This record gives sequence, C-alpha cells and structure tokens, in this order.
Amino acid sequence: MQGVGVSSALAPGLAENAQAQTSAGVIAGETEITLTVNGKPLKLTVEPRTTLLDALRNQTELTGAKRVCDRGTCGACSVLIGGKVMYACSLLAVDVVGKPVTTIEGFAVQAGKPHPVVEAFVNNDAQQCGYCTPGFVVAAKAFLDGNPSPTMDQVQSGLGGNLCRCGTYVGVRKAVMEAAARMKGAAAPKGGPNA
Ligand code: FES
Ligand code: FES
Repeated sequence: MQGVGVSSALAPGLAENAQAQTSAGVIAGETEITLTVNGKPLKLTVEPRTTLLDALRNQTELTGAKRVCDRGTCGACSVLIGGKVMYACSLLAVDVVGKPVTTIEGFAVQAGKPHPVVEAFVNNDAQQCGYCTPGFVVAAKAFLDGNPSPTMDQVQSGLGGNLCRCGTYVGVRKAVMEAAARMKGAAAPKGGPNA
C-alpha cells in the first residue's frame, strides 16, 4: 500500500467462520460492543465479521466514511484510530473496542466553524463527485497534525493512501498546502473558486 500513516487489518476467513479471535478473546454470533467514536460511547450490536465501516454506516448516522473498494485500497473509508489514519473497511468493529475512533464528523465542523482543511478543500475546489473527499480530509488532517509545514512533494506522498477516480489531485494538494498555512494563522487567500 502506498502512502503514509494508513494501516489495514484484514482478518481472512472471518466471513466464513462467523467467529473471531480478537484482542478481547473469541467472539461468536452477534455481540454488543461499545465503541468510543468522536469522544462519545456508541453501543452497537455486531457480528464478529462486521467491519468498522459497516458498523458506522449501517448502524449510526456517521456516514462520512465512504465505501468504494471495500478492500483496503482507496482510502474513501479513512478514519482515525488513536490519531492514526486507518481504513475502516479493513478493521473489525470488535477490534477497535477501547480505542478512540474519530470520523470526519468528529472534527469537520466545531463550534459552528469548519476545520481549516475543510475550508481549504472548498476554496480550492478539491472535489468533483466528492465521494473520496471525506477520506482525503481525514487523511489530510492527520498528515498535517504530524507535519504542519509540508512541502508539496511531502503532501503528494503523504496522501498516497487515498485515491480519487475523478482526478482532483492537484486541487487536493493545493488545499492541503493552504490548510497548513491557515492552521498556522495565515488569512484565507482571496480569489479562490469560492471566494
Ligand atoms: S473503501 Fe476502504 S479502502 Fe476503499
Ligand atoms: S472527487 Fe470523485 S472520486 Fe474523488
């Protein structure tokens, strides 16, 4: 897998076996779990094979993480686990019990203000169909948290775990550079597509 900070955790065969050897022990059949998502406890009933993406999208209103490849390749389902970007389609829900999960809903708008990464994506028209966009925003936030003053080359490689079928890469990279500047206090540039 290309890119930095993106991890996957596939467990081959779970779909067939309908039981899982997890960090919590062997789990079979439906089980109730409590996840910590965006700082809040979330009670869910899942099967051992239920991915975090399925749990979020099918049982909650947190649908920002998108399903595209569903096999740990495109990054559309990116979430943060303890601040690290991971593919929610490639994680079992039972395996993130006790770990802080952050979805795009957890930081995109706070106190009525959009996160600088979100604003920069809008300013730079960094989306077409928009289906990859939440994953890119999550990955960009994590990338900038770890590298607040990146070069354009670092942005390109840093977001290499996310794919855009519409080819908005130029806009995305410009947005991340703008977000980096704004997170350090720079004013919003004038004259962007939505200025
Ligand atoms: S949907 Fe998860 S990586 Fe593509
Ligand atoms: S904007 Fe369409 S897939 Fe990226």
